[in-house]
Amino acid sequence: MRTAKLSLLAVALILSTAARADRLPLPADAPPSFKAECGSCHLPYPPALLTAPDWKRVMARLDKHYGDNASLDEKTRRELEDFLVRHASARSRMAGEGDPPRLTASAWFRREHRQVPQALWRDARVKSASNCTACHSRAEQGSYRGREIALPELRD
Ligand code: HEC
Ligand code: HEC
Repeated sequence: MRTAKLSLLAVALILSTAARADRLPLPADAPPSFKAECGSCHLPYPPALLTAPDWKRVMARLDKHYGDNASLDEKTRRELEDFLVRHASARSRMAGEGDPPRLTASAWFRREHRQVPQALWRDARVKSASNCTACHSRAEQGSYRGREIALPELRD
């Protein structure tokens, strides 16, 4: 009896964690500089989408930031690196690729986006996989639900 109840609880827990993959809210302890500095050119990316070593590599080369210069004063840089590392993922499928690493190249990202046709990543409405808000209309609010997808051809 006890075991049956416990395994039901385990199943419920697994289901609720799986359902939460569409919610990536900004962690409550985000310094104000995170949105201001890392959200001025693109979405302030959820820290859980890269590993700690990846974030350290991103933050070590802000002067050579994917073809841009995103340099910060050392105090702010350190504060943001600490925040990103604190909320980084420990899962190997969240490891980025490239130099600096891209979260859009992780095994997790590719798997979640396997239904997106290659050509659509370069569509004029999207331009780049890093442009989350082109498809996820509520990404700024941390919501990535299927029914919020902006491109009609991608909706379920
Ligand atoms: C001056 C503009 C600018 C600022 C400020 C900026 N970025 Fe970027 N970032 C870019 C550009 C440009 C790209 C590449 C976008 C593309 O390839 O479509 C990028 C890409 C990224 C990527 C890789 C996205 C992918 O394709 O997987 C990460 C991670 C990232 N930025 C993190 C940050 C963090 C953290 C900060 C704050 C410390 C920051 N950025 C501040 C311009 C900026
Ligand atoms: C070309 C459009 C497009 C772009 C750009 C895009 N996505 Fe997605 N994303 C999708 C589609 C389509 C799905 C699958 C939606 C579904 O059916 O649940 C998805 C799924 C997801 C999921 C899983 C949602 C769930 O229900 O579990 C997350 C999280 C996510 N994307 C985050 C991102 C992030 C972060 C970025 C930017 C770095 C991004 N996406 C860029 C189209 C896109």
